[in-house]
Formats: sequence, C-alpha cells, structure tokens
Amino acid sequence: MTAAPVASREAVLETRGLTKAFGGLVAVNAVSLRFLERQPHAIIGPNGAGKSTLVNLLTAHMRPSEGQILCRGVDITRLPAHKMPGLGIGRSYQKTNVFPSFSCFENVRLAAQSRLSTSMRFFRPASSLRDTNAHADEALELCGLSARRHRVAGTMSYGEQRQLEIGMVLATAPQILVLDEPLAGMGVEESELMVALLKDLARRYTLILIEHDMDAVFSIAEVLTVMVNGTMLESGPVEQVRASQAVQDAYLGDGGEVF
Ligand SMILES: Nc1ncnc2c1ncn2[C@@H]1O[C@H](COP(=O)(O)OP(=O)(O)OP(=O)(O)O)[C@@H](O)[C@H]1O
Ligand SMILES: [Mg+2]
Repeated sequence: MTAAPVASREAVLETRGLTKAFGGLVAVNAVSLRFLERQPHAIIGPNGAGKSTLVNLLTAHMRPSEGQILCRGVDITRLPAHKMPGLGIGRSYQKTNVFPSFSCFENVRLAAQSRLSTSMRFFRPASSLRDTNAHADEALELCGLSARRHRVAGTMSYGEQRQLEIGMVLATAPQILVLDEPLAGMGVEESELMVALLKDLARRYTLILIEHDMDAVFSIAEVLTVMVNGTMLESGPVEQVRASQAVQDAYLGDGGEVF
C-alpha cells in the first residue's frame, strides 16, 4: 500500500513547530507533522529521542513550550487532557496501565464511562448505561478479549493485559489512536497477535504508533517519522524514509542492519 499525496487528504491531527523543553533539555524540538485520516503513521527513534514526550503533547498530558496542535484544523493546543476523548483522541501508555483487580469487562467499562461528560453523570438515563456496556463489549470484541470478559485482569498474561489496555482506549470511542510502544516487553507469539490486532485497527482508526520493533513498524505503517534528540530527522512514506541516507547514518549508526 502506498501513501497518498499529503495535500489530498485531511490532517486529523497536526503539529506546527511543536517544542517541549525540560529546563535546558529540549525533548521535542520544533516538530511539524501531519497525521492523515486512517494512514498508519509510526514514529521511531532511539531511547530519549522524545517520542513519549510527543505523545504526551499530542494528548494534552503535557503543555508545549512552543508551537501548536490542530485537530481537524482546530487549534487544540491549550485544551486540557480530559477533553481529548471528546475530540476522538485516545492513547495508551508505554507502561501497562490496567486495573489488575478488576475484570476485563470492568476495566473497559470504566474507560467507556470516562467518555461521559461530568454534567451528565447524575442524570444518566438507563439507556446511557446500556450504551456504556455495549461500548465496553464492543471494545472487548475489537481487542480480541471477548472470551476473557470475566477474567481478573491481573491474572492474565502480560500480552493479554496489553491487549486489554488497547481495549480500554477503544472503549472511549476514539477516531485517533496514539499507542506508545504496545509491543514493549512482549514475546514472539504475543507480538504476532498484537501486530495482527494493530493492522486490523489501522483500517478502522487513524493509528499513530510509537514502536521500537522494526518488523512491526514495517508491516503496519504507511508513513514513518524518525526522531533523534528531539528533532524530526525524516518523515514520509516508509520506503522513502527507509532509504534515506540521513536515517541510515544517524539512526542506524555504523552500518547497523536494523532496517
Ligand atoms: N517529565 C520530564 N522531566 C524532565 N525530563 C524529561 C521528562 N520526560 C522526558 N524527559 C527527558 O526528555 C527526553 C525524551 O524523553 P522521552 O521519554 O520522550 O523519550 P522516548 O523517545 O520516548 O524514549 P524511549 O524510547 O526510551 O521511551 C529524555 O532525555 C528524557 O529524560
Ligand atoms: Mg518513550
């Protein structure tokens, strides 16, 4: 599958000169990126490149020092994190983030409930509770855990817990999925299952994927952005970025065979 020309598709999310400094350390440095509707986009880079910081900025978990974030053309730079699900922006974390003593269903239902606005909570009609449960069941189905509905999350395998985490994001009815290293710490079989899941999700959602696993990146992403030391080294169709000399030199080091 080849990436469509950038100008012909709407950017669902866009950064303009996005910068985040922690004191003297510029973790994200003037990054301008366009994430297009349902075009799976992977962001790679060595440890400390600024990938998670970029995720935190995109999902309003951190405020940028400079620059802008636009969602479908609307400036959302100053919006608080709790508004993100309402905009269709869902995220997962680099470290597992499930409630271990709750069942799978309870985990996804909690996530689905978080979508309801605070003002509605006390007057919630029974139909909206039914909606929440339906959303939760749908999310379990999408993340492949329907058969584990009543299983206590903490007793499942690590891979299943990471699947559940994605289910929790899906339960917030997102359009954009920002996933921070969903394959981290997984074994070969668990990774294969997760890659299949991510490929499926990439057809339904706009997937922004932070990942170190290159095989996974190449089998899922259409667009690849390489970050090094907070700056964007290269961004474009996967094959083009893969062939770039700057990427080969800076990211791969001395003739490394990562690609
Ligand atoms: N809250 C913070 N306060 C101070 N420095 C931070 C903070 N968060 C991140 N950093 C620093 O910013 C830089 C980028 O970190 P970040 O976590 O974004 O990298 P990353 O690309 O996600 O790395 P990894 O691949 O290891 O997850 C690092 O030098 C890190 O130490
Ligand atoms: Mg990170």
